[in-house]
Amino acid sequence: MSETTSSQTERVHASFRAHFGATPDWMVRAPGRVNLIGEHTDYNDGFVFPAAIDREVVLGARHRGDRTVRLYADNFQQADAFDLDAIERVPSSPAAAGWSNYVRGVFQAFRDQGHRLGGMDIAFSGDVPLGAGLSSSAALEVATGTLLDRAFGLGLGGREVALLGQRAENAFVGVQCGIMDQFVSALGERDHALFLDCRSLAYRNVPLGLEARGLSIAIVDSGVKRGLVESQFNARRQECREALERLGVLLARPDLSSLRDVSAGDFASVEADLPETLRARARHVITENERVLASVAALEAGDFAVFGAQMNRSHRSLRDDYAVSTPALDLLVGLAQALPGVLGARLTGAGFGGCIVSLVAASALEAFRREVVERYHAETGRVAALFVSPAADGARVIAQGTQAPGPRGR
Ligand code: GLA
Repeated sequence: MSETTSSQTERVHASFRAHFGATPDWMVRAPGRVNLIGEHTDYNDGFVFPAAIDREVVLGARHRGDRTVRLYADNFQQADAFDLDAIERVPSSPAAAGWSNYVRGVFQAFRDQGHRLGGMDIAFSGDVPLGAGLSSSAALEVATGTLLDRAFGLGLGGREVALLGQRAENAFVGVQCGIMDQFVSALGERDHALFLDCRSLAYRNVPLGLEARGLSIAIVDSGVKRGLVESQFNARRQECREALERLGVLLARPDLSSLRDVSAGDFASVEADLPETLRARARHVITENERVLASVAALEAGDFAVFGAQMNRSHRSLRDDYAVSTPALDLLVGLAQALPGVLGARLTGAGFGGCIVSLVAASALEAFRREVVERYHAETGRVAALFVSPAADGARVIAQGTQAPGPRGR
């Protein structure tokens, strides 16, 4: 158990006792994630290469024997409750428990699939920074899904839990995210990054061996909360759909179902006929898929220099072609890339604010703090937070209680 898990676990125990007057039977954890490379490719049926991080959500729970779910969020010191047979979305207002929608959405997604659930008391606490692009919401969804899978003896496993988490976010919360975040939160592995084909959901965990190579994953939060992320994210998805439609016509391939199926050669033969914005968006997706494949191959051959160079190219493409970077992210990436000992740096996650990720020689971390984090502060007045994280394990049951006795109806 990591240090953060044990302190989160204590907080959850204390919250649970204070709010439900008992001890939780079930304890489950699920991590946030950092994407090493493969951005905005998941919803285009492409390839991604994220890793789980050592920041996570820990959740404690107990069966109730009725149809009510009571929740307590330690981070927000807020409580909420709902009826399992009438799950509604909490309106998003600053005073409302917006976090509750992630939990409600997962219960609803399980019920939509016909899984039998019963009432529970649930308390949780997390240390994944919120709104920073490190998937705090996916961690909460996957923790909830893992709990339901195990506490109700459903036997689904990580892949299905990830899909139900994504469904909660798409259909209940209303964000059209891809599968990357939930998948790696469910199925990541310590000291590995997860290479995922988002079409077939075939995946393999690729060993990183960072410590042996004297390398670290450094994540810097720009301190600029992601703005407009939902509307801009959905707008990019729409642009990809439009580019795909036009490419289908230009290439005389009416069967074309995703940008994943357009080769760089085919794209080059018709790109001049695309409107400029759509051309740039499609070029990012097509080249980013190639960069992921090249990165994984480089890593498997032990060539971290090539891996880092692909990270740098990915950032350029996200900035110039996909237009999801910000001046703050560009500044951080520029400072990082200029530093000796930094193999590569790029924005990570959806963009529009949030974090950068960098592969750094462990011996250069002090210089990194000085030349990237402190310099950024001096230039912008903003405080950036530095997280050095190993690649961590995906979701786990930490303490197993009793399974729900017998069928409970839908
Ligand atoms: C967000 C989404 C992911 C993915 C990334 C961009 O994190 O939740 O599904 O699309 O943005 O790569």
